[in-house]
Amino acid sequence: MTDWTSGYVAGIDYTHDFHSQLTPALLGFGAMSQGHRHGLEGNGITYCELGCGQGFSANLLAAANPHIDFHAMDFSPSHIAGARELAQEATLENMHFHERSFGDFGTAPGLPETFDIIALHGVFSWVSEENRQYITRFISQRLRPGGLVYVSYNTQPGWAAAMPLRRLLASRAEQGSGPLTDRIGDAMAFAHQLGATGAAYFGKNPAAAKRLDHMKSMPANYLAHEYFNKDWTPFYFEDLAGE
Ligand SMILES: C[S@@+](CC[C@H](N)C(=O)[O-])C[C@H]1O[C@@H](n2cnc3c(N)ncnc32)[C@H](O)[C@@H]1O
Repeated sequence: MTDWTSGYVAGIDYTHDFHSQLTPALLGFGAMSQGHRHGLEGNGITYCELGCGQGFSANLLAAANPHIDFHAMDFSPSHIAGARELAQEATLENMHFHERSFGDFGTAPGLPETFDIIALHGVFSWVSEENRQYITRFISQRLRPGGLVYVSYNTQPGWAAAMPLRRLLASRAEQGSGPLTDRIGDAMAFAHQLGATGAAYFGKNPAAAKRLDHMKSMPANYLAHEYFNKDWTPFYFEDLAGE
């Protein structure tokens, strides 16, 4: 872990996935189903994705929604380089990537004054409190009045049983040395070893044992970003809503 990332994992890129939850039509439908007007049908709609990772979702959505102007940001240089390359190859004129951190994104050149949609998937639970404050400040300054925010997060009580497992893995990897992928492998082996010796935690929390077993099939670049950041906060809904 390095300082410029404020405890977020560095040196290992995230996976290339499409997250359909980010789809503008779906977000509009969600708002409409709750009786809210969203005004997303017309032209000149602006969409912002915070912490876009590899940018695969943003690129695909930009290609499918040429009437929407997409901006997406991430502080990882390799994520943004790959995302820009894909946008270029697909000749997407409505897709703009920004290599920025949450703290300084507001000053990025070429940003629209306000956005109709601000979305973040797989970010809010995985960053520090300071970075969450940058995110909420950006939203409060840049969301169009009546605009729409989508935020996903890890919830309580769903994650309660697995919290000690996550802590064990992250602490073990932080104390180790060498490349992160090796430390992840070592932390996973250590947790399995504990399970095999009959640690009461796994016996009393079968959901945690099942999760650990399931994690065996997951690639290191997914595990790194999900389980090995310094910060990780599973929220009760009312706390998330409060922030
Ligand atoms: C778990 S990944 C999710 C990526 C993408 N939203 C997805 O779901 O595929 C979280 C992303 O947030 C980015 N990130 C973490 N802290 C950040 C910060 N302070 N500023 C900008 N991006 C950050 C990481 O580089 C990573 O790409």
